[in-house]
Amino acid sequence: MLNYKKLGFENTKKMYQEALKKNYALPGYNVSNMEQIQAVLSACLHTQNSVVMQISKKAYEYIGEKLIAPMIAGAILQMKEDAKKMKLKPITVALHLDHGDSFELCVSAIKNGFSSVMIDGSHLDYKENVKLTKKVVNFAHKYSVTVEGELGVLAGVEDDVSADENVYTRPEDVEDFVNKTGVDSLAIAVGTSHGAYKFKPGQQPKIRLDILRAVEKRLKNFPIVLHGSSSIPQDAIKKINQYGGKMPDAIGIDAKQVREASKTPVCKVNIDSDSRVTMSASIRESFVKSPEVFDPRAYLGIAREDLLKMYMKKNIEVLGCGRKTAK
Ligand code: G3H
Ligand code: 13P
Ligand code: ZN
Repeated sequence: MLNYKKLGFENTKKMYQEALKKNYALPGYNVSNMEQIQAVLSACLHTQNSVVMQISKKAYEYIGEKLIAPMIAGAILQMKEDAKKMKLKPITVALHLDHGDSFELCVSAIKNGFSSVMIDGSHLDYKENVKLTKKVVNFAHKYSVTVEGELGVLAGVEDDVSADENVYTRPEDVEDFVNKTGVDSLAIAVGTSHGAYKFKPGQQPKIRLDILRAVEKRLKNFPIVLHGSSSIPQDAIKKINQYGGKMPDAIGIDAKQVREASKTPVCKVNIDSDSRVTMSASIRESFVKSPEVFDPRAYLGIAREDLLKMYMKKNIEVLGCGRKTAK
């Protein structure tokens, strides 16, 4: 059993309370390789905000359960060294399992050094979702690990549902679910959607701020999580298509709407696709412009720099949690 505190991680409790107080959201950045991990930590160090480093089930399997926590712990030690040199405060990092789909996977993540887990029972019927979430909460809390649940099905890739009225989570259900399960935070459906093809061209459903406000009235100081919140930067999509890729009509969430949502009880905003398109655009451009290069450090190094810029911009301009520092 790895102790997450000894590895340098924190659970999400304090960081979410801070986010609630200051009306911003923290990033939940999904990672699956070293360059993304380094870019996330470096960006958040520069913008001086806490971060939730997220590992999906597929990333858990891709990296390997024994490598994840020690690898990110090593990156945190490096970040602390960099902070000293740059005279900046080291940042707080939570290691979070994203979309855990079983009790067993959550237990495995906790035993392997995670400080936070998500149990996604959103595909189960309500009673079963409550039962499973409660079981994970009871186990996780014994180790001071925080738990995120999910209620409601997001539009888009989750079940191919479209963003119409009946898929939005109801505020009264949020209150009941939180009281019955004891979860520390909850992902709800308010109009966002996973992936790089969130809507058809010309469509841009509004994030339901009214639902977020209604939840806030029912549950004081309770952290809400927004999944599927990538904006899919169009300059990256243009580059991908220009340099041999094929991603026509890739569309994300309007960043201004995410900015507004970050001022509500939304404490964490999940971003994965923006990182994927930024990295892909960068590598495609390198391959076309420098076909003679075959050292991965060259093109992955450029991609890491591009990621760093994207994350910093996101922290400052979209989530409102980051600030410009001297560098
Ligand atoms: O919300 C889902 C994440 O984008 C994870 O994607 O399962 O391909 O790692 P993945
Ligand atoms: P995006 O696909 O919009 O990046 O969402 C990622 C996510 O919600 C991870 O849980
Ligand atoms: Zn998600």
